[in-house]
Amino acid sequence: MTITPLMPVYPRCGVRPVRGEGAYLFGEDGQQYLDFASGIAVNALGHAHPHLTKAIAEQAATLMHVSNLYGSPQGEHLAQRLVDNTFADTVFFTNSGAEAVECAIKTARRYHFANGNPQRHTLITFDTAFHGRTLGAISATNQAKMRDGFEPLLPGFAYAKFNDLEGALALIDDNTAGFLVEPIQGEGGIRQASHEFLTGLRKACDEHGLLLVLDEVQCGYGRTGKFFAHELYGITPDIMAVAKGIGGGFPLGACLATEEAAKGMVAGTHGSTYGGNPLAMAAGEAILDVMLEDGFLENVTAMGDRLRQGLEQMIPNHDHLFDSVRGTGLMLGLKLKSDSRAFVAFARDNHNLLLVSAGENVVRILPPLVIDESHIAECIDKLSTAARVYVPAADD
Ligand SMILES: Cc1ncc(COP(=O)(O)O)c(C=O)c1O
Repeated sequence: MTITPLMPVYPRCGVRPVRGEGAYLFGEDGQQYLDFASGIAVNALGHAHPHLTKAIAEQAATLMHVSNLYGSPQGEHLAQRLVDNTFADTVFFTNSGAEAVECAIKTARRYHFANGNPQRHTLITFDTAFHGRTLGAISATNQAKMRDGFEPLLPGFAYAKFNDLEGALALIDDNTAGFLVEPIQGEGGIRQASHEFLTGLRKACDEHGLLLVLDEVQCGYGRTGKFFAHELYGITPDIMAVAKGIGGGFPLGACLATEEAAKGMVAGTHGSTYGGNPLAMAAGEAILDVMLEDGFLENVTAMGDRLRQGLEQMIPNHDHLFDSVRGTGLMLGLKLKSDSRAFVAFARDNHNLLLVSAGENVVRILPPLVIDESHIAECIDKLSTAARVYVPAADD
């Protein structure tokens, strides 16, 4: 038998973390890494944050799980806090981002069904989008690498070019339910929606009775220095998928919606065994306690500005390799002139710096949101040292 016990769907690298502390990970072999990947934008408070670990430990010892057949004081409390701090009137808790996206898609379809327009089932989505790995979520992207071999996919999606407002509007027809879009594409290469594009989609939704569904799984929850990225645009969605930072490492996601958009989601239409269980809610509460403290989001903006400045100052010294910086807050991307995956591996294996590769040869820089200037200085130092000695392969 050659297959590994862990299904070999990930090209796993040699780093084998066994412990984490703040912005650092420690490998099985004792190596220490500066973690500017944060489990791909998950560990918002870094590793082993005392408030989060205490909340989880205490809740685990009190009540870990009950069925959603029972009343949920824990779920009601966290949902109310999210409602109080966002556009939303109602929340469905999930265990992952893909499930949050699934709930968002179902909510959008049910809205038009409830309005007597079941034919309005198609969401317009965008090239290089990433919404997760369920059949619904891979149907919502046109990226072949995620879809090949999994056909037949779900009907009900149309694909437009990201940041091409005219192209997206041209796809609207009698079957259109709305748009599903990431305000900042993560996996696609830290591609940020232009102001004109996102506000134009909102306007089109208002004019045509469509729903704006945002996927803020990666760009939401403080990552950009706002609680949610759409706040940067002065618009609100009708439905929004959230995950990653919401649990800070505990598997948690959420689908948020306005009362109007959620009008079709009545008893029996959706569910999840684990979704919103007391243990997950304790993690979610602990994250919010910290994130909504005065100054937390301002510090993300300040650290994001410092990190961007450091990256921009470094580029001219290594302009054979680095092209430009993208993104907002602590969701930054360094566009390379050669293969980003190879450089990420080099920085990891030779300089103990953890980053994530993305589309368009962009290196994603997604540190914990609690970093300070010393971590930024360390990251810039490691990056420039790596860049000084790195030689891209001839075919990169
Ligand atoms: C924008 C976006 N949507 C959805 C997902 C899927 O989330 P999960 O892997 O938790 O299912 C991701 C994961 O990276 C993401 O970045």
